[in-house]
Amino acid sequence: MELAKSIDWIGCVDWDVRDFHSFDVPHGTTYNSYLIRDNKTAVIDAVKVPYISSLLHNIAKKTELAKVDYVVCNHAEPDHTGGLAELLAALPNATLLCNAKCKETLSAYFDTSGWKIQLVAPDTKIALGSRTLTFIDTPMVHWPESMFTYIPEDQILFSMDAFGQHIACSERFDDQYDFKTVIEEAKTYYANIVTPYGKQVQRVLEAAATLPIKMIAPSHGLIWRSHISEIIEKYQHWAGGKYAPKVLILFDSMWHSTAGIAEAIMGGAAQASEKIHVRSLQVRKNPLSRIAAEMLDAAAVALGSPTMNMQMMPQVSAVITYMKGLKFTPKSAIAFGSYGWASVGTNQLDRWIDEAGWTRLMPPIQARFRPTAETLKLAEEAGKKLAQTALRMAES
Ligand code: FEO
Repeated sequence: MELAKSIDWIGCVDWDVRDFHSFDVPHGTTYNSYLIRDNKTAVIDAVKVPYISSLLHNIAKKTELAKVDYVVCNHAEPDHTGGLAELLAALPNATLLCNAKCKETLSAYFDTSGWKIQLVAPDTKIALGSRTLTFIDTPMVHWPESMFTYIPEDQILFSMDAFGQHIACSERFDDQYDFKTVIEEAKTYYANIVTPYGKQVQRVLEAAATLPIKMIAPSHGLIWRSHISEIIEKYQHWAGGKYAPKVLILFDSMWHSTAGIAEAIMGGAAQASEKIHVRSLQVRKNPLSRIAAEMLDAAAVALGSPTMNMQMMPQVSAVITYMKGLKFTPKSAIAFGSYGWASVGTNQLDRWIDEAGWTRLMPPIQARFRPTAETLKLAEEAGKKLAQTALRMAES
């Protein structure tokens, strides 16, 4: 698949992966690699271990392996470097181009003593002939060594993980695939991988704004050529921590008591305004990656758990551990839940709201064994309050 004259996608499609280092990836993914043939030849990014023979096959269809002069490593994570040693061994004349931090990381993963490595920096220019490789350091987007490669003559930005999506497909460009799914997957990708680094993303977007860009070629999923302004706008929105008028209800339940309170909160929130979006997810039935995508732009959140074994339920605990690491923009929140003889789980969630630096809208809503009519009325009122707060936060 050609991006421009003599610039080809030579990556691999992982159709059946559903667990990507613990993320749920319902559409599979791709490991994108690119071949640039000029007076000199360069490969941009490698692939995961099981796909290296496929990558070599794709290179060999276009050129002799001995003609590859450079392999660029934009990012050291193993889904793009697992096959690097084998790739370099098969390319006898290739020099690896990477920044100093990447070399340090690769040396921790591999025995790099026999590798030909040339360090690159933002002022480095690698002339290929009619084209030039230039480099932009993008630290913590999303690893310390991450960088972009840019070809000014073709105005193509090779952005490694940034702007990526986990989608396995035969199509290669954003205008060839269902756009709603592409954006949803880009959002899920951002929420689960890039969220903690919003400030670094904003700096990268400022740097990218100075470049003319005809194409953004990430290392996963579809290449952006028709919707570049839309995905950059989305990244600005997500990195800026902007709120949507959305109430997110996350809970688990044993005998439907906590679930009943969740339903009452949902009803109250949904009735508050036509402008409000309400999402209610029982965490035990939804993957963490989906929960994170919903959390990314939610303004108000209700967290619910019964008490089980004198603790909150384990899947709720997993969710708050995951949310703590992702450092979402602070939400307005309430805790709710049920108990039999000791109220522990809901109070743990209530304390967690404070510890996370979120705004606690009201004391927790609690029910002993089953929610009473008064409790359900209180939950409905809480839903309205969450919705009104979410609308104000989204407008400000
Ligand atoms: Fe696709 Fe951060 O690796």
